[in-house]
Amino acid sequence: MRCRRCDNAMQDTADTTLPLRPFLAKLHPYTPGEQRAGANIVKLNTNENPYPPATAVIDEVGRAAARLALYPDPVSDSLRRALAAYHGVHPEQILVGNGSDEILRLLVHATIDQGGKVAVVDPTYSLYPVLAAQFEGSTEIYPLVDRQRLPEEIFDGEEPILLLPNPNPPIGTLFSRAEIADLCRARPQTLVAIDEAYVDFARRDAVPLLAEFSNLAITRTFSKSFSLAGMRIGYVIADAALVAALMKIKDSYNLNHLAQVAAAAAIASAKEMERNCARIVETREWTVRELRALGYELPDSHANFVFAIRPDAGEHYAKLRERGILVRYFDTPVLRDGMRITIGTPEQMEILIAALKEILSRGNP
Ligand SMILES: Cc1ncc(COP(=O)(O)O)c(C=O)c1O
Repeated sequence: MRCRRCDNAMQDTADTTLPLRPFLAKLHPYTPGEQRAGANIVKLNTNENPYPPATAVIDEVGRAAARLALYPDPVSDSLRRALAAYHGVHPEQILVGNGSDEILRLLVHATIDQGGKVAVVDPTYSLYPVLAAQFEGSTEIYPLVDRQRLPEEIFDGEEPILLLPNPNPPIGTLFSRAEIADLCRARPQTLVAIDEAYVDFARRDAVPLLAEFSNLAITRTFSKSFSLAGMRIGYVIADAALVAALMKIKDSYNLNHLAQVAAAAAIASAKEMERNCARIVETREWTVRELRALGYELPDSHANFVFAIRPDAGEHYAKLRERGILVRYFDTPVLRDGMRITIGTPEQMEILIAALKEILSRGNP
């Protein structure tokens, strides 16, 4: 077995005599985007924010380092209060964790039994099937119509949990609030988990629906709009009963002290985050125009990435990589005709467009 990231030989869990549970031999872990660094690397592959976090965040984290000998607050009380005020909900409706990936895992842990199903659309965030498999479950896949629209059948499903990002990667489609309300209404036995990792770029969230639907959970992250991917901070806003259940299965200290302080400072300086999002959206619109002029088809994106479609996208991805420009390519039947490109600074996007012009001018093999 080879590592899907570095291609080095990896110990296959099937070859050991250790008392491991059999499902682990079949489990394919999530493949995170490459984290290659270097002065000449243009990194547009993991939807990070090209701008730094607010200055207040850096200052507060520096000060908080003095307290590192002590355990953090296990339930992140003051951060939960700050988030509750930010969203106009009660602190009991919020649980924070080590990135929204941890929060999503807790939601799956809380809802599916062995052999159970997690409802997902296709395409979507590729972590979801891995989370289902980690709890010895699987996914019920509802293919999106034209890769973008919810199919009728999804409203009739009965899986205990539905994971739906909004906007939905890697295309960037935004489902309407009315569609989310319809899902909650049509599937009262399902926990409808709306993953709003990219919502600050779209500015149309589902939070107001929480007052109406107790089967709705909304996950958020500080990794994208708040420029804090390295800190690993995510949270869920949901019915207090769900939060109480998740509290029972989370790690005792699932959010470290620096992360708690950073998140609170980031919320207090949310205006800076909003300014950065506006800059990214402006750069996205410029990038879309340039890519369309080069012959790519681009569905409308409401996130900090775009999906650029051309039959030769796979070759372009590889040629960009040779030039130190990293974008994401998913070699799956539904996605292999496109590249997902994170929106960076205007300068980074100019480098990308210039490289693609050069690649196109040389012609494809
Ligand atoms: C839809 C979606 N949800 C969640 C995440 C992960 O967020 P976090 O960094 O908070 O774990 C990502 C990361 O790319 C994502 O695309």
